[in-house]
Amino acid sequence: MNEKLSSLPSPYALTTDNTELVFVKKDALWRVAHYGERSNVAADAVLLTECRYNAESFGRATLETYPSFGADYGDNDGQMGMCKYGAIQAQHADGNTTIQWRCADAWLAADEEGVEHVVFDLEDTTRPFRARQHFRAVKAADVIETWVELEHDEPAPVRLSIMDSFGLDFANIGTEFEVLSVCGQWACEAVQDSTRLARGQRIDLGSRSGVRDAWENNPAVMVSLGCPLDEDRGTVFAGALAWPGAWEISVQHTLHHTLRVRAGAANLSGAYVLDAGKRLTLPKFIFTYSTQGMGGASRALHRWARGWHLPHGKVVRDVLLNSWEGAYFDFTEKTLTDMMDGTAKLGGELFVIDDGWFGRGAHARNDDTCGLGDWIWNEEKLPKGLAYLVKEANARGLKLGLWFEPEMANTASDLAEAHPDWIIREKNRPLRVGRGKSQVVLDMSNPAVRDAIFDQVDAVIRSANGLSYIKWDANADFMNAGSTYLDADHQANIWFDYTVGVMELIARLRVAHPEIVYQACSSGGAHADYGWLAYADEFWGSDNSCAQQRVFIQWGEELFYPACCVASHVTVSPNHQTHRTSPLKFRFDVAFSGRLGFELHPKGMTEEEIRFCTDAVESYKRLRTTIQQGDLYRLVSPYKNDHAALMFVSADRRKAVVCVYGMARLAMQGNPAPLHLRGLYPNLRYRITEINKAAESHIGPLEGKAFGGDALMTQGLPFTLGNEDDSLVLELTAE
Ligand code: GLA
Repeated sequence: MNEKLSSLPSPYALTTDNTELVFVKKDALWRVAHYGERSNVAADAVLLTECRYNAESFGRATLETYPSFGADYGDNDGQMGMCKYGAIQAQHADGNTTIQWRCADAWLAADEEGVEHVVFDLEDTTRPFRARQHFRAVKAADVIETWVELEHDEPAPVRLSIMDSFGLDFANIGTEFEVLSVCGQWACEAVQDSTRLARGQRIDLGSRSGVRDAWENNPAVMVSLGCPLDEDRGTVFAGALAWPGAWEISVQHTLHHTLRVRAGAANLSGAYVLDAGKRLTLPKFIFTYSTQGMGGASRALHRWARGWHLPHGKVVRDVLLNSWEGAYFDFTEKTLTDMMDGTAKLGGELFVIDDGWFGRGAHARNDDTCGLGDWIWNEEKLPKGLAYLVKEANARGLKLGLWFEPEMANTASDLAEAHPDWIIREKNRPLRVGRGKSQVVLDMSNPAVRDAIFDQVDAVIRSANGLSYIKWDANADFMNAGSTYLDADHQANIWFDYTVGVMELIARLRVAHPEIVYQACSSGGAHADYGWLAYADEFWGSDNSCAQQRVFIQWGEELFYPACCVASHVTVSPNHQTHRTSPLKFRFDVAFSGRLGFELHPKGMTEEEIRFCTDAVESYKRLRTTIQQGDLYRLVSPYKNDHAALMFVSADRRKAVVCVYGMARLAMQGNPAPLHLRGLYPNLRYRITEINKAAESHIGPLEGKAFGGDALMTQGLPFTLGNEDDSLVLELTAE
């Protein structure tokens, strides 16, 4: 609990370096009077909003900080109405279905340096039902985090049919809105699309998987305010929900040009049943306001993630080789040590053993039909044990990582056979199964299940004596909607309590083994979300490792998540998913713009390929702080052009990396327009070197020369580009 520093004066401007969220107290409640660029006098913002609001007798905005279904909704001629756009709806113990908040206290809470934290303590006017609402402004990132805690002392449970984390109406923020989101599924994550939100319309985004929360839609959105969406220009609101379960975000443009945003966890089987005395913490919603278009919004979210959210956001990531596409289930100890040899030769720092090392006897995991849930070393397949492999890796200068899928079981596993009641299932209905015709989801609302899985994973980590990395996979949706652990009245809670349970499990493992780095994977990129990224250091971008398609996938993911989180691996050609061939240089250059790794068996590489890779890995290591920690500027979108270009600029703006990828280019059409670089100091001179060169230079006579940042940004940098699959990477160093 944060200590109370002082009561909140009204009006109050909660500020970041460049934005403000102005609160004002009206009657018993606090309202939002303004969100956007900072103004000097909070009272001005209040007056301007109040005037406008008073002039509208119909369809007023719900400006309260946490609008509730059933709240008074008065207008200026004394007529009364009822709020129907609540961010929360509750059915109380006595059957009543409305909430009338009053604010019991509004205060500034102690927090870390550079963070300002406002708390509103809300209580229902007639029933002992309370909400504590937090707004936490991270100054240097221009990001505000918000979340709500609910509790009550009613004589029976309260049923929550809406329990959003965020429910603000922005009254004066614009009159035209364009909404951008990314959607996807297996092998086609983060497809970017946008649409104008016409007056009166509402757009609902969501994921109903329960597990693979970044499919359907990713839990994040951008909205342009008063202008079409643009990469560099115009004002943009961006928000993301840190919730790796089922969720919903809605954005509405009202008749009166109010932008209404709601975001929260979705409880798909019915109302969440909250018992008296229990505190329910709703997920965080993170939002920012940019005056530099989508690019500015992305950079703010990235900065926040690296500095204030990711477990080790400032630590540069290792170059790794993951065994999956190089070996699948088919490996022996020799296969793994051979792969380690190759990893070391390529300049890698970490070797990860993917699926297939666990399960015993009839449940040994040699394909996807059995073994999940039995996190015990398969000594028949790998007799020398995990500690031996850690030693072998260390002897080659490598760390070792291991794949787990802790939330899952196969019905064909020792675990599921011994504990059929630990599976998410419905009473008196046949069990639906997923991958391998036997995969099921474990009931993580049940502490006994969490304990059992914790004990198994913990024992494996301890036995290894030096494990460094865990790839935490999750390859199923909720296929059944029920819990043997929860009683009849609480069945619908499984959606929320499952996710809380999973987060608790990984948090516990992190505490027990703080040295381990985690990758969140879920059938590829379905765990690209800030819920997972509170515990995981990165996510697997996609099982689609075709470089041409990865340009789009990573483009979409990096709209909201920083490059240090996006695991991006060089794979073989032809690609296993698309059967497309592409040059090693292109595959490498695409992987360069995320957390670089490999997903292949290096034994198949020629000496020439290995030489190219070792040089390029060395360059990546030299530049990875800039790529992983720098500001991202998207220069040319693959969605609208025959090539894509992006650049990373270091925090001190003295170093930059530019990546250009040829997409569907027609032959004989000449060179693309010069690249207008961004984020440089106009007055500094930057020396330009092309790296990862395979054949001819793409910048010819410019190679090795220095140019002013101003010229590079205004005149642009000319370069040549062949047909599709041609690419270049440039290193810029200030003199
Ligand atoms: C999922 C992951 C892959 C791999 C396999 C293993 O599909 O996305 O990277 O780990 O599972 O079964």
